[in-house]
Amino acid sequence: MADLDDIRDGDNFGLNTPASTSGFYLKGMDGSDWGLKNRMARIFNPESGRTVMLAFDHGFLMGPTSGLERIDLGIRSLVDYADCLMGTRGMIRSCIPAGCTKPVCLRTDTGTTILTEMNHNTLISEEEAISMNASAMAAMLAIGDAATEASTIANFSNLVDIGNTYSIPVMGVTAVGKDMARDARYFGLASRVCAENGASIVKTYYTEGFEKVVAACPVPVVIAGGKKLPELEALELCYKAIQCGASGVDMGRNVFQSDAPTAMIQAVSAVVHKDMKPQEAFDLFETLKNEG
Ligand code: 5RP
Repeated sequence: MADLDDIRDGDNFGLNTPASTSGFYLKGMDGSDWGLKNRMARIFNPESGRTVMLAFDHGFLMGPTSGLERIDLGIRSLVDYADCLMGTRGMIRSCIPAGCTKPVCLRTDTGTTILTEMNHNTLISEEEAISMNASAMAAMLAIGDAATEASTIANFSNLVDIGNTYSIPVMGVTAVGKDMARDARYFGLASRVCAENGASIVKTYYTEGFEKVVAACPVPVVIAGGKKLPELEALELCYKAIQCGASGVDMGRNVFQSDAPTAMIQAVSAVVHKDMKPQEAFDLFETLKNEG
């Protein structure tokens, strides 16, 4: 039975401090459930409102590509510097220690590889995502690809239904349709389709006019890095995207294929979280690289 002898009256009601009515710090999330916001807060640094996601999901399409031959060696050393890990269930389970407390954005669609026709994908089960304690689930939309647009949008809508049931944010990954121009009009359309279908995060590519892509997308946008560039160019890409309003990066090859991946991810992080200018971030990269 409860001890009723010492029931003290509360005296700390903060009467001069009204309850906060301000919105959540990430755009487009005010109408979302507490659990979804809480998961978003694991991924997006509450101070900067931004994130450095480390993408290493490439293997399900292309096998052990350069930099991802040994995820247990190559990626593990980068984990401390990332805000979130994006990978497949197989690589996360087998190569990332379960004691790792970084949030996971789980690649939740899977399908055909570069050896056949890409993007004929299906979803893994929500039980998998829940059992892996996913902070977000990612699936690709092949907007503009006649063969796979409809099925990838259907997958995505399904995933958003599941995400909304369990308050797990869903990230829309825009794959560039074969015949699509990689311009702001296309990425603006593709990003908006993700948001219209319920994405909490949109991953797309930087392009000229990116501020319009971000402005027309009511939820946080992160950029993929794309093919490996010289480090200074990759940092310039990050900087331009952030200055256009991107909420961070979900970057793979430009980190893990760098000569000095741990130095590179720290330089990217400085651009993302501290608005560091590209040349200064490159100097930081060089310094960290030389420190070994
Ligand atoms: C592939 C992906 C990758 O995660 C994405 O392309 C990010 O990696 P990179 O920075 O190497 O482009 O979603 O479907």
